Amino acid sequence: MYLLKSIFFNIAFTLMLLEGINCEVDPQKCVVWGPGLHPERIVLPARYFFISTVDSNGVPFSKSPGNIFSVHITGTSKLSNKCSTWMNILDRKDGTFIVRYKMYHACENLKIQIKYNKMDVADSPYVIPGPVYPEHCYCPEKNFENWQESYGCKRKYRQIEEDLKHFTSVNFSFVQEMVLSKFNNPRSTSICHYIVRENKVFRNCYGQHVGFKMFMDEILLSLSRKVELPDVEMFVNLGDWPLIKNSDANPLPMFSWCGSDDTLDIVMPTYDITESTLECMGRVTLDMLSVQGNIDKSWNEKLEKAFWRGRDSRIERLKLIEIAREHPELFNASMTNFFFFREEMEKYGPKEQHVSFFKFFDYKYQVNIDGTVAAYRFPYLLAGDSLVLKQESKYYEHFYKELEPWKHYIPFKRDLSDLVEQVLWAKGNDEKAKQIAAAAQTFARENLLPQDIICYHALLFKEWSKRLSEPVKILDGMDHVPQPSKDSPHKQCSCHRQFQNINSHKEKDEL
Ligand SMILES: *[C@@H]1O[C@H](CO)[C@@H](O)[C@H](O)[C@H]1NC(C)=O
Ligand SMILES: *[C@@H]1O[C@H](CO)[C@@H](O)[C@H](O)[C@H]1NC(C)=O
Repeated sequence: MYLLKSIFFNIAFTLMLLEGINCEVDPQKCVVWGPGLHPERIVLPARYFFISTVDSNGVPFSKSPGNIFSVHITGTSKLSNKCSTWMNILDRKDGTFIVRYKMYHACENLKIQIKYNKMDVADSPYVIPGPVYPEHCYCPEKNFENWQESYGCKRKYRQIEEDLKHFTSVNFSFVQEMVLSKFNNPRSTSICHYIVRENKVFRNCYGQHVGFKMFMDEILLSLSRKVELPDVEMFVNLGDWPLIKNSDANPLPMFSWCGSDDTLDIVMPTYDITESTLECMGRVTLDMLSVQGNIDKSWNEKLEKAFWRGRDSRIERLKLIEIAREHPELFNASMTNFFFFREEMEKYGPKEQHVSFFKFFDYKYQVNIDGTVAAYRFPYLLAGDSLVLKQESKYYEHFYKELEPWKHYIPFKRDLSDLVEQVLWAKGNDEKAKQIAAAAQTFARENLLPQDIICYHALLFKEWSKRLSEPVKILDGMDHVPQPSKDSPHKQCSCHRQFQNINSHKEKDEL
């Protein structure tokens, strides 16, 4: 009995020691960073910053020490006497946390207090004296370069350089004639002519299905609230497929959400990732931040199978179902909807219930297979902590050129003939598979977060504007796309830059 007791105490004591060494968060040594600490210059629909937990020996945690932080965001507001925000904390389970918050009023003296056990974390409290505006406020910075710098945007993107190199000096009147004569086929094509002039947005759409114009409207309006955009005009393709064949001797400029190796369309971030940027903590639940904070299982807890859910938008997706049935020990794949191959429903169905995207990451391997064009889930798959297997494809999104097979994902052949082999490779090379999954996640964290999506659009439109050789003119009959209405009380903003500008004009007059 005594012996047993002493063994018990020994074990308990050792555990305590281990905890004492490894498991105590040192609030002072934690690291806090990210755009959400600079809300006065980086306006986002949902602001976000990161906390990296560190123990008293200065060693970062690689596992979650539990959700132990409390964050309070307060401030003052001249207009509404309220400075309300909504905040949540996402545990990335790798020792780091995402804090994100949404602002509802223009605030001053914003104070971000981060506490752990009643002690301030890192340099908390973070105090931002100047005015901080919510996303809906119209308060554009005048100077584009200054804004770009202060917003923390990259200065170049390979895909933008690649896409725009075909266009040096563009006579847009000519482009307009050509595009409308070639693509104004209302039944098959949906395109919009967009104009930004004096920071106001105008458009003319052609085609039967132009609902997706809302995505383009929203990003242009969002940008123009943040920075005065250069005058610019372009055609935007609202359909899935890119339109400009690379065999064309004189390619026309067309902005599309998906590119391909045999077309020359100018690629924008997809409407999907753009919407999840603009509706983060709003209408959209799956976004590049939420996907990082809602994963239940760590690498070793995940099921060693390749997971896939989706609709029947491409023949290889049916093939995947066949392969999965032949190898149930390697795959869990099913159709959630039939639309393109309804007559095959019996063979490849029944359609299965929707599975929450966050649940995909209960599985170690994720299959990314084209839909009608590139599968727009790819960024979210990269941001999770599973290994992505990607079908070889001519289709790409704005960031694919920065990715490398075997570094960020495992490639498999377009016809899926080596898919089983690749899953077996991953199972047999667990450590490497884990490294590739981690590299993908790092890439997503560094390149595909809301700030990056805003920056990419801004730089693309700026670079494009430089190529237009004629002044931009609003055409008769174009629709003005207004900013969301300003009359409701929570939308009061009183932008300080508008007053500043009036003053600076005065000074000039007096000189
Ligand atoms: C631009 O294109 C229009 C329409 O084709 C043409 O009338 C005009 O002369 C062109 N301008 C220049 C500077 O080439
Ligand atoms: C496939 O995955 C779903 C969702 O995780 C699960 O409910 C189902 O039981 C799995 N099927 C098999 C055969 O493991």
